[in-house]
Amino acid sequence: MTTSETAMTTWLRELPKAELHLHIEGTLEPELMFALADRNDVTLPYDSVEAVRAAYDFEDLPSFLNLYYQGMGVLHTQADFFDLAMAYFARAREDGVAHVELSFDPQAHLVRGVPLEAPFEGLLAACREAESRYGISSALIMSFLRDRDPAEALEVFERAAPWHSVVDAVGLDSAERDHPPGRFAKVFARARALGIPGVAHAGEEGPATYIREALETLDVCRVDHGVRCLEDADLVATLRERQIPLTVCPLSNVKLKVTPTLTEHPLPALREAGLNVTLNSDDPAYFGGGMLDNYVACHDAFGWTRDDFIDMTCNAVQAAFMAEERREALLERLA
Ligand code: ADE
Ligand code: ZN
Repeated sequence: MTTSETAMTTWLRELPKAELHLHIEGTLEPELMFALADRNDVTLPYDSVEAVRAAYDFEDLPSFLNLYYQGMGVLHTQADFFDLAMAYFARAREDGVAHVELSFDPQAHLVRGVPLEAPFEGLLAACREAESRYGISSALIMSFLRDRDPAEALEVFERAAPWHSVVDAVGLDSAERDHPPGRFAKVFARARALGIPGVAHAGEEGPATYIREALETLDVCRVDHGVRCLEDADLVATLRERQIPLTVCPLSNVKLKVTPTLTEHPLPALREAGLNVTLNSDDPAYFGGGMLDNYVACHDAFGWTRDDFIDMTCNAVQAAFMAEERREALLERLA
């Protein structure tokens, strides 16, 4: 806690939060980017940490993804992924995050010649270390890139067989426009047959129809973002009836111009519609803040009370891929 921190910020910091929508590659801060570039002999197209940060001025999702894929080019070894995740976990601990679900993009590493072992083993080791060092529980979400061939996603999923037992869910991310989720039905069905549930980005930049398609063709149990559901009243009714959790990322949506400002964000409308909303940071190194920043920004923008934040944090804990004992312990702390 800093001396200038408000009582509300301190309270939000101490709230045991669950982060369900986090791209671990999107936690790569410029300082670590330079350190890893040095370690792996990678030349970055920037002179300084400040120059990297200055480039983080995005027009939309694709303009962000260009820098996101370029940035992760410094990640080569298991140790790099371990260091990346540990740096994130240290910040998450400061933010009062109790549980994290790390999404990662194996295909984005495979195309650079980085084998599956590196992200899987590096991230798993970090998850174990975070549990013992900080008491943070975690889950792993193996995501597929929707702007690549669905057959490749299936092939990569099969190649990841040695790690299927530690994959908590499969996901779908990357450029959403013109890349509907239904094309990935096969790989999601294959994962489901192995008992691995699915989540998918939908309704971030893409239309509400993609959210319905993700529910119907991928059978996802959660929707990442989902904010554009409000464009379809029938879909809102379905999401409400089924209480499908939406992993909303407020600061991300502002940075990628999904909404012009946070005060104009559809979050209050989503909650008023009776939807199951959770708060998340998405790619905190690129979007100006982690979980606590997202919570505080929502407090400032919407004037939400402690009960509002407890409600959304309980939603996240209820929707998390975690052991029932852990869930009960966290819900007790939130009661
Ligand atoms: N990959 C990393 N961040 C993403 C986002 N916000 N949307 C889609 N794909 C992503
Ligand atoms: Zn995301």
